[in-house]
Order: sequence, then C-alpha cells, then structure tokens
Amino acid sequence: MRARPRRNRKNQLIRNMVEETVLRPTNLIYPLFLLEGDIAKQPIESLPGIFRMNLNDLCVEVENSIAVGVSSFVLFPAVPEKYKDKTATYSVHADNFYLEAVRQLKQRFPQIVLMSDVAMDPYSSDGHDGYVENGEILNDRTLPILGDMALAQAQAGFDIIGPSDMMDGRVGYIRDVLDENNFVNTSIMSYTAKYASAFYGPFRQALDSAPKAGDKKTYQMNPANKREALIEARLDEAEGADFLMVKPALCYMDVIHTLKEHSDLPIAAYNVSGEYAMLKAACEKGWLDYEVAMPEMLLSLKRAGSDVILTYFAKDFGQLYQQL
Ligand code: PBG
Repeated sequence: MRARPRRNRKNQLIRNMVEETVLRPTNLIYPLFLLEGDIAKQPIESLPGIFRMNLNDLCVEVENSIAVGVSSFVLFPAVPEKYKDKTATYSVHADNFYLEAVRQLKQRFPQIVLMSDVAMDPYSSDGHDGYVENGEILNDRTLPILGDMALAQAQAGFDIIGPSDMMDGRVGYIRDVLDENNFVNTSIMSYTAKYASAFYGPFRQALDSAPKAGDKKTYQMNPANKREALIEARLDEAEGADFLMVKPALCYMDVIHTLKEHSDLPIAAYNVSGEYAMLKAACEKGWLDYEVAMPEMLLSLKRAGSDVILTYFAKDFGQLYQQL
C-alpha cells in the first residue's frame, strides 16, 4: 500500500495542518428575543437556555456574548397581542419597543452588528408574513408594508435588514426604499430559500407568532425543491441582496452547497429553533455529548458552504472556542 491517508491524521499538529474548514465565532449571528418594558426574563420551554428578555437583560446577554467573540445579533420582538392588527402598523410606530431597543443598543455597543427581521407575522393579527384578504396572502399589497418596516429599522440603526417573509420582489422593493432614503450602506440579508418547515415550531412558540389560519405554503418553499432555490437566488442577486440565506440549515445542506456553487455572494444558513431543540434534548438526556456534537453541527454547516451561520448556539460556541 503506497497511499495511506491515515498518515495525514497521525497526530494533532498534522491534523490541524491539513484542516480544510475553520469556524470562528465571528462567523456566527446570535438570535435574541426582545420583550417590551421591564417584564422579567421568560424561559422558552422548547428552547432550553434561550430566554425572552427585556432590553436590560438583553444588554447583559450582548455583553457576555461580546466577551466570547460573538458580536453579531439578529433581534426578534415578542409583540404583545394588543398591538397586532391586519396591516402590522405597530412595526413602524414611533414608540415601538423594538426600534427603541436598537437605538439604545447601538449607543451602548457601537461595535456590534445588528440584523433585523422583516416580515409581518410578529405584528400581524393573522400571524402571516404577508397581508391577508379572504384567506389569501396578497403579495403586492404586502410590499409597501415591508418597505416601511425596513425603512423604520434602517432609521433605528440596524446594520443588516433581514426579509424573512418570502414575498416575490421584496428584496428589490426594500433596496429601492432604502436607497431613496439614503440608506445605501444598509445591507440586506435575504431569506432566499426559506422552506415551509416543521423546524420553526419552537420559534413560533417563543414569539406566539403561529398563523391563526392556514399555513405558510403559498410563500415558503416546498421542502422537496432544490432547483427552485436557484430561481430565488438569481432574483435576490439581481434585486441587490448582499447575502443569500438558506433556512432551515441541517436538512438543507444540499441547498446550501448548491447556492454556494452558483453564487459569488456570501451564503448564510439559519440553524433554526427546531434544530437547536433536537440537539439540546438529546444532550439533556445524555444521549449526545454537547461539547462535541454542537461544534460538529456548526462546522458541518460551514463545510457545506455557509459563510455565516445564524444559531442559538452562538454564545456557547464562543465559550468553547475560547477554551481551545
Ligand atoms: C418569521 C420567522 C420565522 C423564523 C424566523 N423568522 C418563523 C416562520 O417563518 O414561521 C424561524 C426561526 C427559527 O425557527 O429559529 N418571519
């Protein structure tokens, strides 16, 4: 035998020398759930270790994350039911607690990167990402609502706008609104291939944002489709997206890989709530070793082609990485 691949694995230094993929905390974006006012921290049952937090508690979490090298965050508001209506008007209210929180976070931590969520569902009495009329989600009626929402977020100081709604044409629409208002440097990370997935369950519990009727299958993609993701990717590129995202991540690694091959934009993957819950539950039962399985999961997403990973594991990964 002349070829012995094991020679390149014979000790740690050689293994490190030939390591093909490196994941750093700077590749991660940490999702945080924001509560209004000074309500006490609320655990989310299906996301052990993740809380809904008021701004003060959230600042502590941000500080602890920065300390372990994680300085990018995506914020989601837990909007009280009383603020919800058919057109998501609360999303642009002057005293909206989500927008106020961003202003304060940016003042306190000028160095961090903050990404928003653009979709109607947290603010909508219908619980859908778009405007609902007679049970139908109206695409073009939704675009101006998303445009206003994105502009309010850019004005509040978000660095990256994150349209997660899957309406057609929304990236271009939002890009135009931002540019017309001189926010030419505000980025867009498009949820390019967002699938109608069961793995969002814990997130909808966290935000109380499940659709009141029907499902999201007329806008989110069919899990059976991969080539369709390329149509979405081409459109988002042409419409001015700065990042293309695939969501969920684990069951869609082939989609991540395909987008990476076909696009020169950075590719992001959203390691969603259900994926976090699965691994956490198995580790809590003692069936998997968290400190080994968790970094393996994230590294694999990087190897598959994600440059950026949105993950609830971000702070824990940062902590582990420091110990290396
Ligand atoms: C909604 C939105 C969802 C997630 C991010 N933004 C849920 C959905 O589409 O119903 C899911 C995130 C997760 O599961 O971690 N616009």
